[in-house]
Amino acid sequence: MGNLPRSVVSRKPTDTMRIILTSFAGVLFGFFIGVSFPTLSLTKFNLSSSLLPEADLSKLEGEKTGILNVPVSNAPTESPHLNDTSKIWVSSNPRGAERLAPKIIAAESDFYLHKLWGNPSEDLTSRPRYLVTFTVGYDQRNNIDAAVKKFSENFTIVLFHYDGRTTEWDEFEWSKRAIHISARKQTKWWYAKRFLHPDIVAAYDYIFIWDEDLGVENFDAEEYLKLARKHGLEISQPGLEPNRKITWQMTKRRDDREVHKETEEKPGRCPDPHLPPCAAFIEIMAPVFSRDAWRCIWHMIQNDLVHGWGIDFALRKCVEPAHEKIGVVDAQWVVHQSLPSLGSQGEKYEGHSPWRAVRLRCRKEWFIFDDRMKKAERAYFSSMGIDPPKLKSL
Ligand SMILES: *[C@@H]1O[C@H](CO)[C@@H](O)[C@H](O)[C@H]1NC(C)=O
Ligand SMILES: *[C@@H]1O[C@H](CO)[C@@H](O)[C@H](O)[C@H]1NC(C)=O
Repeated sequence: MGNLPRSVVSRKPTDTMRIILTSFAGVLFGFFIGVSFPTLSLTKFNLSSSLLPEADLSKLEGEKTGILNVPVSNAPTESPHLNDTSKIWVSSNPRGAERLAPKIIAAESDFYLHKLWGNPSEDLTSRPRYLVTFTVGYDQRNNIDAAVKKFSENFTIVLFHYDGRTTEWDEFEWSKRAIHISARKQTKWWYAKRFLHPDIVAAYDYIFIWDEDLGVENFDAEEYLKLARKHGLEISQPGLEPNRKITWQMTKRRDDREVHKETEEKPGRCPDPHLPPCAAFIEIMAPVFSRDAWRCIWHMIQNDLVHGWGIDFALRKCVEPAHEKIGVVDAQWVVHQSLPSLGSQGEKYEGHSPWRAVRLRCRKEWFIFDDRMKKAERAYFSSMGIDPPKLKSL
């Protein structure tokens, strides 16, 4: 795992977390204007408020107290008003929305920007089908500017800012149509878990969750997706130009093909040629997920797995057969640049340099994740009365 998490950089050791959803604020503002507008029928409000007191709040409270990995029951819920047919209760609705008529439920959303005025149906002049996110610090702005230009107008652009600097990006024309999300000193997987819920990004066929230090001279996103589609890749990454020591053979670009799905590794690394790191494997620096694959992976990302080490070995659990649906696109490739700022991430910890402290943390998270995965799978198989297959470490 050669790639250090780039998202931990910060100059000020402040712990205060600030989240600015610049663009969402406009949408919210519009919403409040909307709900306070007098032509909205009052009866609608009466209806919803008459439903409110019946909400089973105590149940919700209980679910919220879980910090990590508390299993949430998805069992169908029974109607609390059994013989009152004037009340709505649809147990197949999304959990918590049983009191709504199914046809009014908007369970999914997108990042499309709306206007504060005019006719809502005229707000969207286009509906991008793809999403790309970069986790960025302002120092890397020129690299990101170059990268964003490789993504057509068919992409929604989301920037996750780990250094608190957001408005400065408006020097770039595209920044004004991008979504900016700011939370200091957080990592790519932290943002992804919190802001890319599969229901929120449901509008997008493919999702790119990329680092900020990729050289994209030989990359075009639309061409990339053509190849991903053609070869049935649900989880993929562009080939890496081997400009320095590459950790895994799998992600190294081949110049004689469009994509590859398996590789040879050092002797002993791959007891099973269909398993990582020889197949069913990509790294975490520049992953591209189909909508369905992301829906599964989002659920696998643990809230404390912020650096993401180890997730690359587990991606295969989300697609079947993994050695056919995970691969590397060689014909559109990127360069993994080494950034000088990498060594100064984090803070000194227990006598370790900041750089080393971050790296140790990456490994620690990986062990925790690996252990949890094994325990969860063991628990599953034993609950099914099946002898667990020999569980491999990630
Ligand atoms: C059904 O309604 C009747 C009359 O309102 C009530 O007495 C009865 O307890 C209700 N039955 C159930 C199962 O809730
Ligand atoms: C954007 O998507 C449309 C519809 O798929 C396609 O026709 C168009 O070529 C795409 N734009 C670019 C720049 O590739």
